[in-house]
Amino acid sequence: MNAPSTHSRITGTGGFLPPRRLSNADMVALLAQRGVETSDDWIVERTGIRARHFVDDGVHASDLAVAAARRALEAARREAGEVDLIIVATSTPDMVFPSTAAIVQNKLGIAGCPAFDLQAVCSGFVYALTVADAMIRAGSARCALVIGAEVFSRLLDFDDRTTCVLFGDGAGAVVLEASPTPGIVASELHADGRHVGILCVPGTVAGGQVLGDPLLKMDGQAVFKLAVSALEGVARSVLAKAGCQASDIDWLIPHQANIRIMQSTARKLGLAPEKVVVTVGDHGNTSAASVPLALDVAVRDGRVCPGHRVMLEGVGGGFTWGAVLLDY
Ligand SMILES: CC(C)(COP(=O)(O)OP(=O)(O)OC[C@H]1O[C@@H](n2cnc3c(N)ncnc32)[C@H](O)[C@@H]1OP(=O)(O)O)[C@@H](O)C(=O)NCCC(=O)NCCS
Repeated sequence: MNAPSTHSRITGTGGFLPPRRLSNADMVALLAQRGVETSDDWIVERTGIRARHFVDDGVHASDLAVAAARRALEAARREAGEVDLIIVATSTPDMVFPSTAAIVQNKLGIAGCPAFDLQAVCSGFVYALTVADAMIRAGSARCALVIGAEVFSRLLDFDDRTTCVLFGDGAGAVVLEASPTPGIVASELHADGRHVGILCVPGTVAGGQVLGDPLLKMDGQAVFKLAVSALEGVARSVLAKAGCQASDIDWLIPHQANIRIMQSTARKLGLAPEKVVVTVGDHGNTSAASVPLALDVAVRDGRVCPGHRVMLEGVGGGFTWGAVLLDY
């Protein structure tokens, strides 16, 4: 056990999207083969999504996670051998068990440090970052890999046009290190299990079979309403904890589910739309991967710079939601 550290700080980010990109036109053609009608206009207008990436057969969440983790390690100028904690946020693990984090650890060629998965659906990365921050501040880790990795294409019902056009695959990662200065300034997590049924994959594995339906179900309008109020509420609460105002935020990086949810959150917080990092157009909703992927895009294109104050927000199945305010 190391001596307690006062703070944790992100020292590197990485992202990875599988190469197979499906534009809305590709989705229109794919669904037409099944007699399901959709259009680029509908998808863009209702969601802001123009494309998503899907893995090929035989590629798993751990493969995407390792690619993103290697990029984050390189950005942090760290070797895999220096990592002393791995948390993978995923709802699409490689196996029922062991954890995808253990598989990632092995693929990175390291052993011994704690590695576990965290399941909070689309809030997973914000949850995982908060847990890693707490472990670093408690002195249980000094150099954590925090990853969101998903292959949601495996859960999609391509006969259900209300859901299958929304999601994509990918992974994002950060290296989170002990630091004398923040770093993570404040965070808050929530769940309300009364809403399990509005966004779920109800199937399970039992007796050598899949029991129940292993495809994604969603009441889109119910999710939309809850998401908008949850994202505004948790952002305000975290700002209050940190003793600052929405105007102090340089970048808002919300879960990338739908452009209208993000715009509405920014409007309610009084933030200009230019302060919101939006990747949903190119990525679709990559669940737990969406926030670290968007952060990585904004770091690499020079928008998020050292010293900037960034609000990360997650929301998703459970119902779960949370926010992390950090100085990059
Ligand atoms: C899913 C979502 C985009 C649907 O948008 P909406 O404006 O609520 O649309 P509705 O579900 O009311 O459907 C409106 C019409 O569009 C149709 N429609 C739905 N999906 C369609 C598609 N892919 N293509 C074309 N038409 C579609 C519906 O059948 C309906 O037609 P009808 O009026 O003839 O019955 C929206 O509810 C949403 O974004 N919800 C939040 C989802 C989310 O963020 N989930 C992840 C959270 S982690």
